[in-house]
Amino acid sequence: MGLPEAVRMVEVGPRDGLQNEPGVVPASVTIDLIERLADAGLSTIEAGAFVSPKWVPGMADSAEVLAGLPRREGLRFPVLVPNLKGLEAAIAAGAEEIAIFGAASESFSQRNINCSIAESLERFRPVAARAGEAGLRLRGYVSCVLGCPYEGAVDPAKVAKVSRALAELGCYEISLGDTIGVGTPGKARLLVEAVAEDVPLARLAVHFHDTYGQALANILACLEEGVATVDSSVAGLGGCPYAKGATGNVASEDVLYMMNGLGIETGVDIEKLSAAGDFISAYLGRPSGSKVARALAGRG
Ligand code: HMG
Ligand code: MG
Repeated sequence: MGLPEAVRMVEVGPRDGLQNEPGVVPASVTIDLIERLADAGLSTIEAGAFVSPKWVPGMADSAEVLAGLPRREGLRFPVLVPNLKGLEAAIAAGAEEIAIFGAASESFSQRNINCSIAESLERFRPVAARAGEAGLRLRGYVSCVLGCPYEGAVDPAKVAKVSRALAELGCYEISLGDTIGVGTPGKARLLVEAVAEDVPLARLAVHFHDTYGQALANILACLEEGVATVDSSVAGLGGCPYAKGATGNVASEDVLYMMNGLGIETGVDIEKLSAAGDFISAYLGRPSGSKVARALAGRG
């Protein structure tokens, strides 16, 4: 099957990655990281989350981060928003794009946002309406699309149902999250086929974590299904505070290296992207989680 000519890479490291760090990363460092990512050519960079600071302390400075970011045509900084309180704070901070986040598994929904799937969709309804009135772009996430840390396997039909509900609320794109990184290519393919019956393929993104080392294979399978938007995290930062044992997202450098090898256009420069990853890895005091970044650094 054919591959897309171009792929939009959505960078989630500054949010999905840094939300998981035990020590809070200062806003100035997050801003520096995001500027480097933008300079590398990434046009969509998730910059923070307006969630309860008691639940995720690492994102408490998201307003400060947004305030310090460069604004240019074509550069987008989505932020996560779980409820109206978060939306109002995001609007006050100048956010132009938000992401609401639901789950395909009841237990994960309870642990992550303290409500059932049905309650979350009801909670998102006024958020989506208000975001629309304020002229914000709205993205949607579904977590645990290929497995749940509490319930195990997840039925693709459940993922399709939540994805459709988010699309009906006005999300321009639904990102399918393999939150704990348990998926394999055949299952990823079947999932995309199932969800695409309810939401057009052009509105689907994939969001893989690399816990079992399957992320790139899963991404390739989804590209072959026609998906052309891929979430990733520089230096493979991340995990999920409500998914014990989940490792980072697939590393952006690894995704880009694969895209370059496949001749798929992304508009992102691998040297600059790796340098951004080296910057944050040095700050965090550990080696990059990207194999590509480590290989590039080892060239001398
Ligand atoms: P709750 O405790 O049920 O909320 O939490 P509440 O409405 O009862 O409020 C409790 C307290 O939180 C109150 O403060 C509120 O004011 C405050 P208090 O009176 O106790 O001082 N509060 C807020 N503060 C700031 N901003 C807000 C906000 N809302 C309430 N927006 C809630 C419900 C949704 C708030 C909570 O569960 C929460 O914040 N959860 C966020 C969890 C999270 O961020 N998880 C990580 C992101 S999801 C993810 O990583 C997966 C993804 O990457 C995809 C994938 O990998 O698959 C997206
Ligand atoms: Mg994630």
